[in-house]
Amino acid sequence: MTTANSMFPDISISTERLVLRPFEEADIDGLTEMMNDEHVVAWTTAPHPYTEADARAWVTRLAPAERTEGRGIVFAVTEFLTQRLVGMVHLQHTDWRVRSCEIAYVVAPWARGEGYASEAALAVTQWLFRDQGFERLELRTAADNVASQQVAQKVGCISEGILRGACIARTRDENGALSDTRTDLIVWSLLPEDVDGIADQLAEAAGYTAFSEWN
Ligand SMILES: CC(C)(COP(=O)(O)OP(=O)(O)OC[C@H]1O[C@@H](n2cnc3c(N)ncnc32)[C@H](O)[C@@H]1OP(=O)(O)O)[C@@H](O)C(=O)NCCC(=O)NCCS
Repeated sequence: MTTANSMFPDISISTERLVLRPFEEADIDGLTEMMNDEHVVAWTTAPHPYTEADARAWVTRLAPAERTEGRGIVFAVTEFLTQRLVGMVHLQHTDWRVRSCEIAYVVAPWARGEGYASEAALAVTQWLFRDQGFERLELRTAADNVASQQVAQKVGCISEGILRGACIARTRDENGALSDTRTDLIVWSLLPEDVDGIADQLAEAAGYTAFSEWN
């Protein structure tokens, strides 16, 4: 079976408060700092400690290859007003026949609680469904990752079930040392019909006007 498409286009997405674009070398310091945060260490599989060399490899080689090798696409999330890096959205495990992929996101600790993860995730979702003709987006959150579950619910995700013992989280023991802890994963999904009206609800709650556009 042939697929209609096997690579996402090289694009940027604008929302009221954010610009999602490919990573640039100027993001390396901000990315290094963001990825060394405790919650990122706990809930993602990123290298730890996350060095400048890790960030450089991600920005110059690994992130672009996600797109050019057809696995997904990586967006640096920046504040429109300050142009500062505030996060990352990663679409991965793309199945071009099913037109489905999985989303993951990180927001820098100092930018959390502003609704940025939800705004960025929703903008990517709208682009994926409306412009790219995708039919399903999946999200997996560790059972104790409450903030990420809040984001999932805010963008309209439906919880589909639990993958038991499917995730290794990194937790600190009483001496402050990191250790691997096996935990459950919650699987969430979004279909195109789930997203209708969510952008306006989110914007109203956070006090901004909803829009997103891509080019
Ligand atoms: C998950 C993450 C991206 C959320 O980013 P964010 O920009 O703060 O997200 P938003 O502001 O859009 O929404 C977060 C929501 O979770 C809530 N929240 C945050 N921490 C919480 C906690 N410990 N308990 C309950 N709610 C929490 C916030 O109040 C907010 O809800 P609200 O808007 O109803 O108040 C960020 O915490 C992060 O980068 N975590 C580490 C990496 C990670 O876990 N990625 C997800 C992997 S699946």
